[in-house]
Amino acid sequence: MSSQIDHLLDENRRFAPDPAFAANAVAKPELYERAKADREGFWADQSRELLDWSTPFTEVLDWSNPPFAKWFADGSLNVAYNCLDRHVEAGNGDRVALYFEGEPGDSRAVTYAELTDEVKRLANVLTDLGIGEGDRVALYLPMIPEAVASMLAVARIGAVHSVVFGGFSADSLRSRIDDAGAKLVITADGGYRKGNVSPLKPAVDQALEDRGGLGPQATVEHVLVVKRGGNDIDWVEDRDIWYHDVVPQASAEHTAQAFPAETPLFILYTSGTTGKPKGILHTSGGYLTQAAFTHRNVFDLHPESDVYWCTADIGWITGHSYVVYGPLANGATQVLYEGTPEFPAPGRWWDVIEKYKVTIFYTAPTAIRGFMKQGRQIPQARDLSSLRLLGSVGEPINPEAWIWYREVIGAGKTPIVDTWWQTETGAIMVSALPGITETKPGSAQVALPGISIDVVDEKGEQVGNGNGGLLVITEPWPSMLRGIWGDPDRFVETYWSMFQDNGYYFAGDGARLDEDGDIWFLGRVDDVMNVSGHRLSTAEIESALVAHEATAEAAVVGASDETTGQAVVAFVILKESFLRENSAEGLANDLRAWVGQQIGPIARPRDVYIVGELPKTRSGKIMRRLLRDVAEGREVGDTTTLADTAVMSVISAQVR
Ligand code: WTA
Repeated sequence: MSSQIDHLLDENRRFAPDPAFAANAVAKPELYERAKADREGFWADQSRELLDWSTPFTEVLDWSNPPFAKWFADGSLNVAYNCLDRHVEAGNGDRVALYFEGEPGDSRAVTYAELTDEVKRLANVLTDLGIGEGDRVALYLPMIPEAVASMLAVARIGAVHSVVFGGFSADSLRSRIDDAGAKLVITADGGYRKGNVSPLKPAVDQALEDRGGLGPQATVEHVLVVKRGGNDIDWVEDRDIWYHDVVPQASAEHTAQAFPAETPLFILYTSGTTGKPKGILHTSGGYLTQAAFTHRNVFDLHPESDVYWCTADIGWITGHSYVVYGPLANGATQVLYEGTPEFPAPGRWWDVIEKYKVTIFYTAPTAIRGFMKQGRQIPQARDLSSLRLLGSVGEPINPEAWIWYREVIGAGKTPIVDTWWQTETGAIMVSALPGITETKPGSAQVALPGISIDVVDEKGEQVGNGNGGLLVITEPWPSMLRGIWGDPDRFVETYWSMFQDNGYYFAGDGARLDEDGDIWFLGRVDDVMNVSGHRLSTAEIESALVAHEATAEAAVVGASDETTGQAVVAFVILKESFLRENSAEGLANDLRAWVGQQIGPIARPRDVYIVGELPKTRSGKIMRRLLRDVAEGREVGDTTTLADTAVMSVISAQVR
């Protein structure tokens, strides 16, 4: 990490806001002063201004039982009404909500009136299927308008959605459905990816197989299936229902009922430092307030004229907050694209920007680095002149990628907002505000108005400008997670025990404050990896590896990778009997494929090294730091705390 810090210290390019942009910017510098003077009052104002409350709240924050926060608790609202009906009532029903672009080239525009109509019908269908307030509904869908409608219909009736990324395996889906105790699964036959139909329904069938005992098959009553891929699928009578058989026929009359602000809105599973993914719980009023506020101010949204595009899948938090809730609450017009950037050829994304005249574009550094590799001639062959703001999320953006993004995609003039946040924070926490902040390539800059961030040492003492440490959030914020589904102890332990005395939220990220107090993120300090902007846990992949019959022991590290940020590298000790009968290379390939099946293709290790031993301390803890040195081709660091100091030279030799 020290070479990275040195490199960032050399970065001294500065980009002042363009005065013309600033003159018309949504965010005003007064926001900072207002929030500083009265943080809770500031959020109350934002909430009243941005949302429609059926019962206005009188209380802003209840922090009487930390770390369990309540925001706007005596107010009530309907989240879907805020994202749909009110825009139609205000006369904007004909405004396009979604420009859907399918990977095969099919497209359709869905207006606010049409989306509202679809969500009302679907809400009636869900109610008919026995789904009510507090029930959990799992979604396993491609990036199609029905996915957005499903999330909103679930929210509309006060139920709780749990979206599972379509790239996750049947086993991952099974454990998520099971943990949430979902009653209904909404899926599609399949969706388009890289020119083929990637099946989804078969994974749902597999996830719901009866394996004896209690399991998801016991709680799930129905599977609602959208036809998208046209692929052949199996059908379970009485359980499976075609979406097109019930939704168009359902009544489009549906009055949204208001629910208290702390009504659970969704659960989203994310990787932590243990093998079991945690179900991050978000609620309604505070979440929607901060999603809408950040979407409007960070992206400088002018809903009547902008065309916004966030490339994230709805299976991730970015898709929740910046494809569904933030943009729709703000009445934005946005692009929803189903497929990958390379289909049918590199440059598809730039075609989409040209076609819809996208003005605001939000993507991840890993994608930008991929485009850099392909060369600037590909975007330069398209007309990208509609773009006026670019955003980045998911991992630190290196200055080279930042500059390329601005020069090549942003014609050397668009502001760039590097936005730091997490599944747990629900919405953006650290970012430049366009038109206000002078930006520095590689720095996420400053906490947003109303957000209290600090960088501290392990004792919780401020490190001060010019120093590095751990990022903490020092005051509760509206869109903060309300807990881990079914596991309040793990919630307290994971995020709040490290700085218990100070009451700080520990984010798990290392960060440095420069001389001006701007924040530079340095990556995770725990056993969470970040591969192409996706969170993966070393423990989760290790447990998948040891579940294979050939594996005796496994250790996984995240090694830096030019394109994906980090890559999964596994060190595996095989059982003697398997090594005798198979080639090490064949087994390594089997294990890569196995992890892909167990968790999903994103978790498949880039490298699997078969080794004879793993470096352990005297107390038996695996020293991943040393394995990372090997994986990154560096000289191995200090080995003095190892039980057997010779083991690293053996491993290095085996890896070579
Ligand atoms: C990392 C994604 C640096 C960070 C919204 C965080 C970032 C984790 C940035 C959360 C950024 C996200 N700069 N690091 N702009 N954005 N991260 O839950 O390590 O998928 O803790 O949320 O991604 O990942 P998650």
